[in-house]
Amino acid sequence: MKKYNVAIVGCRGAVGLEMLKILKERDFPYDQLKLVSTSIKENTTDVQGNRIEKITEDTFKGVDIGLFSPGASVSKVWAPIAVKDGCVVIDNTSQFRMDPEVPLVVPEVNPEAIKRHKGIIANPNCSTIQMVVALKPLHDYAKIKRVVVSTYQSVSGAGAEGITELVKQSADPSYPPTKFPHPIAFNMLPHIDVPLPNFYTKEEVKMVNETRKILEDDSIGVTATCVRVPVIRSHSESVNIETEKKITRDKAIELLSGAPGVIVIDDIANNQYPLPLDAAGKDDTFVGRIREDESIANGLNLWIVSDNLRKGAALNAVQIAEELVKNGNL
Ligand SMILES: NC(=O)c1ccc[n+]([C@@H]2O[C@H](COP(=O)([O-])OP(=O)(O)OC[C@H]3O[C@@H](n4cnc5c(N)ncnc54)[C@H](OP(=O)(O)O)[C@@H]3O)[C@@H](O)[C@H]2O)c1
Repeated sequence: MKKYNVAIVGCRGAVGLEMLKILKERDFPYDQLKLVSTSIKENTTDVQGNRIEKITEDTFKGVDIGLFSPGASVSKVWAPIAVKDGCVVIDNTSQFRMDPEVPLVVPEVNPEAIKRHKGIIANPNCSTIQMVVALKPLHDYAKIKRVVVSTYQSVSGAGAEGITELVKQSADPSYPPTKFPHPIAFNMLPHIDVPLPNFYTKEEVKMVNETRKILEDDSIGVTATCVRVPVIRSHSESVNIETEKKITRDKAIELLSGAPGVIVIDDIANNQYPLPLDAAGKDDTFVGRIREDESIANGLNLWIVSDNLRKGAALNAVQIAEELVKNGNL
């Protein structure tokens, strides 16, 4: 079996660490695996003794696949350098997601978009990925007209520092907020990413634009409210959809149960519904609390939970790499 040289760029971050774990777990066919840091001054080793190298102009020579998860401004500089050296970049940052030349891919939803890549493939925002995984089978069946989503996003969505802040503040509520604008322990913040002139946040607008791009349907109305909650890992979402055709609860359960990457947990009488603690460390997107919206003719309510560091970031990127390898799109 052919093996590939892979680089994890931004290897010290929450997503970078998860990428390393997932490549190993899934037995990805790598030959050389470079752990690349964009913020250290000298090469070093991690706690397991793995070599971490500082990014340089020569980093990508001979590298087939670059799994990028630094900040957007860092990807903006280094992804084109990697592509110039023949490396296919799968980028987790927001930098290239809405670039019309760059496919924005969730392998369960639009794998065919990968074939159009010109060197960079974008990984969507974590809250968008889990939502579209669940919406795809419903959209294919009944065409979604409108989505109203409220998110309950874990602190790991803000990276390693977000986790540290919640853990420290939970033990000592006087621990000052630095990553978040207010204390996050015992609290909820209706504010993720920067505010925009239309009074939405950038995170909310990402959910609108990315959903339409991935589902290849600009006619879908999407409105989002994104909230940070004191949960370490896994994002939860309350999603209301309006469809052209009626979807009954039973039909929705049938469609979702057969969808790739989706597990239905829906038995409230026995306290069974998706929970962030249960989803943490898992690969699937969990859907429950499925109800027909009784306020409109063709509406449905869903509760969608998935691990933001895995399906929302690192796993989705590795799945894209697996598709590239499978289809010889490198
Ligand atoms: N977290 C999520 O759920 C999620 C989901 C989807 C997309 N993303 C995107 O993925 C990218 C990375 O997110 P992340 O959650 O991994 O952020 P993070 O934990 O804050 O890491 C981001 C970068 O911070 C740098 N860093 C600087 N000092 C560090 C230190 N002492 N320890 C660890 N890292 C340090 C690292 O750079 P080096 O490793 O280069 O040194 C790392 O790549 C972002 O663009 C984010 O928007 C995140």
